[in-house]
Amino acid sequence: MSALIVLFGLPPTATTPDNDDGVARARMVQLHIAARGIRDPLVLGAMGRVKRHAFVPAPLRHLAYADRPLPIGHDQTISQPYIVALMTALARAKPGAKVLDVGTGSGYQAAVLAEIVGHVYGIEIVCPLAESARERLAALGYRNVTIRCGDGYRGWPEHAPFDLIILAAAPEKVPQPLLDQLTPGGRLVLPVGDRRQRLVVYERGANGEITRTDHGGVRFVPMTGEVRNRALSAPPQSAAPTPEK
Ligand SMILES: C[S@@+](CC[C@H](N)C(=O)[O-])C[C@H]1O[C@@H](n2cnc3c(N)ncnc32)[C@H](O)[C@@H]1O
Repeated sequence: MSALIVLFGLPPTATTPDNDDGVARARMVQLHIAARGIRDPLVLGAMGRVKRHAFVPAPLRHLAYADRPLPIGHDQTISQPYIVALMTALARAKPGAKVLDVGTGSGYQAAVLAEIVGHVYGIEIVCPLAESARERLAALGYRNVTIRCGDGYRGWPEHAPFDLIILAAAPEKVPQPLLDQLTPGGRLVLPVGDRRQRLVVYERGANGEITRTDHGGVRFVPMTGEVRNRALSAPPQSAAPTPEK
C-alpha cells in the first residue's frame, strides 16, 4: 500500500533529453507492466534500465514513459512498453541467449533484450531507421547488438540458429525461414494476421517438433518486403465471392 501511495504521489512525468528520469521509468514498470501480470525479474529489471526517452523523437520525449506506441518516422512506431515487456517475457529471454530481433525500428526492443541475453542480431527494412538505431545503441553503450538493414523474412542464416526470435511487424502467415532458424527449445514470438492479429509463440521441441500458443489480440504495423509479395502472388483461398458492404 505504501508503495502505491508513493507512486501516486509522484509529480507528473517531465522527461527531457538530458534527464535520465529513472522515477518515471520505475512508475511505468510498476503501473503498466508488473501490475498487468509480468513478473519475470529479468524483464522488469531490463525495462527499468533502458532509457526509452532516448529512443523516441525529441518532441515526443515527454510521452516516453506512457504506455503507448509512438511514431518514429517513416510511418513506423516504437512499440508500447507493455508489449515489449510481454514479448520479452514470452520469449523467455535468458543470459547467454543468441537472439534475432526482426523489425528493429528505434532499437528499443533490441536494447531491452541486450540487457538480458548474450547477443542480439537486429534486422530493420527501413535503412535510415537501421542506421539511427545502430548509432543510438552504440552511443548508449550497448556492445552486444549487431544491426543490419534488410528484409528479415529470411532471418539471418549466417548467425543462425537462434535461441529466441522476436518479430515486431505482422505477416499474414508465420515465415518458415524464421521457424527453421530456431534452436531446439528455441522460441519465436510474433504477431500474425492481417486486420485481426494474434500474438503467438512457436516453440521448437528437442526433437524438432513445433508447438504454437496464442496470447491474444494485438495490433502491429504490417510486415513488408518479401512476405507482401508472397501474399499478393498467392492464389485466392476461396472461390466464394466477398459480399459487398
Ligand atoms: C512496431 S515497429 C518496431 C518497433 C521496434 N521493435 C522498436 O522497439 O522500436 C516494426 C518495424 O518492423 C519493420 N519491418 C517491417 N517489415 C520488415 C521486414 N520484412 N524486415 C525487417 N523489418 C521490417 C518496420 O520498418 C518497423 O520499423
